[in-house]
Amino acid sequence: MFMNFRVKKCQFLQLISMCCFLSVLMVCWEQVDHHVVSHVKSYSYRYLINSYDFINKSFSVNREEADSFGSFPYLINHKDTCADSEVLLLLFVKSSPENFERRQAIRSTWGNQTYIRSKLGVTVKVVFVMGIHPNQHRRDTLQRKLFAEDRVHGDVVQQEFSDTFHNLTVKLLLQFRWAHANCAHARFLMSADDDVFIHIPNLVHYLQALSQQNVQDFWVGHVHRGAPPIRRRDSKYYVPVQMYQWASYPDYTAGAGYVVSRDVAAKIYQATLSLNASLHIDDVFMGMCAITVGVSPQEHLYFSGEGKAPYHPCIYEKMITSHGHEDDIGYLWRVATDPEVYGVSSGFLGKLYCTAVKIMLLCKPYYSNTYSCRAAFF
Ligand SMILES: *[C@@H]1O[C@H](CO)[C@@H](O)[C@H](O)[C@H]1NC(C)=O
Ligand SMILES: *[C@@H]1O[C@H](CO)[C@@H](O)[C@H](O)[C@H]1NC(C)=O
Ligand SMILES: *[C@@H]1O[C@H](CO)[C@@H](O)[C@H](O)[C@H]1NC(C)=O
Ligand SMILES: *[C@@H]1O[C@H](CO)[C@@H](O)[C@H](O)[C@H]1NC(C)=O
Repeated sequence: MFMNFRVKKCQFLQLISMCCFLSVLMVCWEQVDHHVVSHVKSYSYRYLINSYDFINKSFSVNREEADSFGSFPYLINHKDTCADSEVLLLLFVKSSPENFERRQAIRSTWGNQTYIRSKLGVTVKVVFVMGIHPNQHRRDTLQRKLFAEDRVHGDVVQQEFSDTFHNLTVKLLLQFRWAHANCAHARFLMSADDDVFIHIPNLVHYLQALSQQNVQDFWVGHVHRGAPPIRRRDSKYYVPVQMYQWASYPDYTAGAGYVVSRDVAAKIYQATLSLNASLHIDDVFMGMCAITVGVSPQEHLYFSGEGKAPYHPCIYEKMITSHGHEDDIGYLWRVATDPEVYGVSSGFLGKLYCTAVKIMLLCKPYYSNTYSCRAAFF
């Protein structure tokens, strides 16, 4: 009894002094480092309070208002993309009219649907989504080129909104609404940037296994937990207090590349019908949609956020996505899908070798480029 009381008293004192210390720290740091303070606040909020009911309350709008955020007319559309086929994955690539080369690189490497069907035996639909070029003078020429490109490939979906960073959430609405209308039976939906390398064979094997387990309620990627809104006006991620007044965003996956299951895609679509979509950071908005319908993301160590994966067979064997590729997609596709990659970590020695290599590549101090150090052990 006595001991028990002593322990509790001791813990209580510890807690009080910890709080005092933290408060002093926060006050002092406010001037010194706003960045650190906002992270302390947001992580505290995320891990101690972890309630995001306010999103549901503060961002609810009626159906017409919600519709108005994404109701731009289609300039290019292919409603029959998914018709009469079993689709494992509907893969949206967030592109822009001027990124011809990136799309071409994707079509001839990881997005080659003929390759996927013949080598992997599944149907993956790759759809490039975009708005129109913001600059009126360049728009017409680019638009002609884009129509010609689409006549050859038939894989572009374009709406008449200005294709800018601040309209990325409009592009998100386009994806979920288009999927709902034209490809609701796809087993999984993915959204990716057009400078992402996707290791399609690894991804397909991963999704096939999940599909066999009949996975539901599934959202995977590089997860940001308890991220704070950026209040520096010079940042492109700047969000004013009037737009989002709380200390932390709900959990979300990096927009570079994430996957949801069919049921989650349907729920997100429903959420977009009653939320204010004025927050322009698309992956954060996705997190807001998800939390109002009770979906939370899970981490996969080989989905990258920002930054490139290191070039090494031990990495290729496991990688799903890697961000920031433009000129080396062809190279990476060749080396990362080389059959020899799959033997590299087999056997005891192979495992040991790859673990050592990955520790060297991923566990350097200050290395925060892509996969976390934990990935070295998986
Ligand atoms: C796509 O893959 C198929 C089959 O592997 C191949 O014949 C074709 O050349 C590839 N297409 C492009 C554009 O690289
Ligand atoms: C988004 O697109 C619409 C329609 O083209 C345009 O009026 C608006 O200015 C764009 N918003 C931003 C922030 O670029
Ligand atoms: C949506 O949110 C923005 C920014 O907070 C606000 O200005 C706008 O009035 C809201 N729209 C609706 C329809 O409530
Ligand atoms: C808010 O939550 C209630 C109950 O949890 C739910 O019925 C409603 O649809 C939610 N609203 C939004 C915008 O998600």
